[in-house]
Amino acid sequence: MSAVLEEFARIPEGWTRKHLLDLESLTADEINILLDTAARLKKATRGCRGKVPLLQGRTSANIFFENSTRTRNSFSLAARRLGGDTIEFTSSGSSVAKGETFIDTAKNIEAMQIDSIVVRHSTPGAPHLLAQKVGCAVLNAGDGAHEHPTQGLLDILTIREHRGNLQGITVALVGDITYSRTARSNIWGLKKLGANVIVCGPSTLVSRQWEEFGVEVAYSLDEILPRCDVLNLLRIQFERQATRPFPSVHEYALLYAMNRDRMARAKSDILIMAPGPINRGVEITPDVADGPQSVILDQVTNGLAVRMAALWLTINANDR
Ligand code: NCD
Repeated sequence: MSAVLEEFARIPEGWTRKHLLDLESLTADEINILLDTAARLKKATRGCRGKVPLLQGRTSANIFFENSTRTRNSFSLAARRLGGDTIEFTSSGSSVAKGETFIDTAKNIEAMQIDSIVVRHSTPGAPHLLAQKVGCAVLNAGDGAHEHPTQGLLDILTIREHRGNLQGITVALVGDITYSRTARSNIWGLKKLGANVIVCGPSTLVSRQWEEFGVEVAYSLDEILPRCDVLNLLRIQFERQATRPFPSVHEYALLYAMNRDRMARAKSDILIMAPGPINRGVEITPDVADGPQSVILDQVTNGLAVRMAALWLTINANDR
């Protein structure tokens, strides 16, 4: 244990950010620090039934105004694995129902002397606003359709583990690009690290505008499939859409679901990813989701590592 404490005695020189709000504003070096730290923490905590007390005496508050399974639980577990405490806030059952504003809620939680706020909100930019109002670290756990930086990082860490390097590999994000914060964070992160990115889906959900950022836009999965090293299959975010973007889910699945037939036409070592929750039979069939090329559960494991790194780096940067 003392060797681990020595290894993590201070945060890396190149890290100065007090918040993790998006991947758009990070440099490639900063993204690499996050990924390297996550990989080191994954190793340091592997098989370790106890805690690695890098955040002992620290408290992280999860304030979630939207549903979550993986993100919320892994942020919580990340803080606790590093010896910290957590506060769990969900808008349902809270004083938000009594008219309290988002900022007032967060400032009241901050007044309990916490070190970080992990926030998920349906309004894009909510974490950025909060970072201007509070003195502790703010981590974005998803703001509307804007960004989900730790999801982008855990996706990239998973690819890096399997491929060693991002440079020159081709990653296709398939599905609902317009409403997906996972897509945006992946695009910024992957491009900065030198990957080729394709966004693919129905024209009602994939904008040509992404070409301006050096991203290839495609409307046929079958056409791009043979070139892809990684597919990240995104859920259709029906809850964010005012109108249905295609005639039927069945038609969507015919054109864009990853299934056995398409697997036979893909590279044999293709990585199949999804941020979850997956909708079996819509963007992915069960045999592919549970098949040998699927790394969907590795992504969840890496989410814990990335969130340990993000909490440790930002909380310590606030101490400087
Ligand atoms: C994603 C999210 O909430 O943005 N899920 C997640 O965090 N694991 C993607 C989604 O909901 O489809």
